[in-house]
Amino acid sequence: MIRIDRFLSDATGGSRKEVKAWLRAGRVSVDGERVRNAACQIAEHSVVDIDGNLVEMQGPRYIMVNKAVGTVCTALHADPRSVLAGMPVSPRKPLQCVGRLDVDTTGLLLVTNDGEWNHRVSRPGHLVKVYRATLAEPLVDTAIEELLGGVSLRNETRPAVAHSLECVDTRILRIGIREGRYHVVRRMLAAVGNRVTELHRESIGELALDGRIAPGEWRELSVRERSLFEPN
Ligand code: URA
Repeated sequence: MIRIDRFLSDATGGSRKEVKAWLRAGRVSVDGERVRNAACQIAEHSVVDIDGNLVEMQGPRYIMVNKAVGTVCTALHADPRSVLAGMPVSPRKPLQCVGRLDVDTTGLLLVTNDGEWNHRVSRPGHLVKVYRATLAEPLVDTAIEELLGGVSLRNETRPAVAHSLECVDTRILRIGIREGRYHVVRRMLAAVGNRVTELHRESIGELALDGRIAPGEWRELSVRERSLFEPN
């Protein structure tokens, strides 16, 4: 059970004062019955509306996005280029991207309003992220060795190391990295004299992008998918 004023304020982001005013004005109904008392307890499954508009509780959300080319990882829902455009807005628990993908990178992106989960999943070095990179030039054997051994990035002292490499075709490389650094895959390939023309993230840890999600679309993670990120 939860107090109606607490429920309304959590679900809408309204202040306690605003919520009390809605109740006093008789705008709130619970299971079709008008409720004016702010201390009224409601059940978790109660149907609550304000002026006939359904109010849903904003619990934690865990979302898989197939990021489309040209979209940006920003927290601004109102920006039409944002990966969050069209997703539900929850003022109290805003959605955030779990890490970032470049504007031109496509594929698996996670979005959540659970800050602790975000922190855990995006921790650098923690999970292997696999990308399919299309290259401007065929990849030479020496480049493969260099990438697996670690390459120097411009203006950085710490080398960037590929965790896994698979040559899918002469110009298509599947590369796994634990890194979280800015533009890291593009910079690693530049460091071995090549250039990434397309970059697509296929998986994060054990979670692969659901091929049924069209570019720019999203869905909630299943319970099984979420469990892939539970600490051991
Ligand atoms: N590495 C890149 O270069 N770009 C991305 O978007 C992700 C990893």
